[in-house]
Amino acid sequence: MKSILPRVQPPGQGDEVPPCSPSPDTLDLLMRRRSTIAANLSAPGPTEAQIKMLLAAATRVPDHGKLAPWRFILFEGAARKHFGKVLAASFQAANPEASYELIAFEANRFLRAPLVIAVAARLTKNHKIPLWEQELSSGAVCQTLLIAANAMGFASQWLTEWYAYDAAVAAALGLDADERVAGFMYIGSAHKPCLERARPRLDDLITHWEAKA
Ligand SMILES: Cc1cc2nc3c(=O)[nH]c(=O)nc-3n(C[C@H](O)[C@H](O)[C@H](O)COP(=O)(O)O)c2cc1C
Repeated sequence: MKSILPRVQPPGQGDEVPPCSPSPDTLDLLMRRRSTIAANLSAPGPTEAQIKMLLAAATRVPDHGKLAPWRFILFEGAARKHFGKVLAASFQAANPEASYELIAFEANRFLRAPLVIAVAARLTKNHKIPLWEQELSSGAVCQTLLIAANAMGFASQWLTEWYAYDAAVAAALGLDADERVAGFMYIGSAHKPCLERARPRLDDLITHWEAKA
């Protein structure tokens, strides 16, 4: 596959930027977007240049207060296997009766995709910007990574699984007390097509507010 990169570079501060960029391709992508389960991902993953662009796109999310309340920890190549030892040890500590097969599965989790990006929410407590809004911005980063990866021709899945909430894993990630995992973004090439899943009925989600008489 040809290595897809954006046609434009991110603007510099103060540059004039278009308020919108009509793009039927983007709408098509959004109308058909599906996650590919990590088990169906394989190499190749994005190149270094593509990873930089993915992260540049992701950090353009809305960010109330310009706090940049997120950061990234990348896992590629052998680091994925090495981190597997952390996952396996934490899993075993919490599940001392776990079988060898289960522990081996945990050790191999990050090997499911050529690239795993841990998105850490960096929360500033006691700030006028509520924590909820900082967390929402982290969610937007995760979603933008999914979409940008898809637009580059890669498949992706946003996972938290148990290890997003595990103290030993957080320590091994180097997270401090005000940081938490928003998602592990698995990115690679799909080796199986996705099937459409059940969707909520749009009409069930919509009301039109009207002033009470
Ligand atoms: C914050 C967050 C965490 C998620 N964690 C998991 C997870 O641990 N395991 C899982 O199977 N799906 C998880 N998902 C759901 C998948 O990313 C994905 O949305 C799901 O497989 C449905 O596919 P779709 O995105 O194509 O609708 C998570 C989604 C979000 C938003």
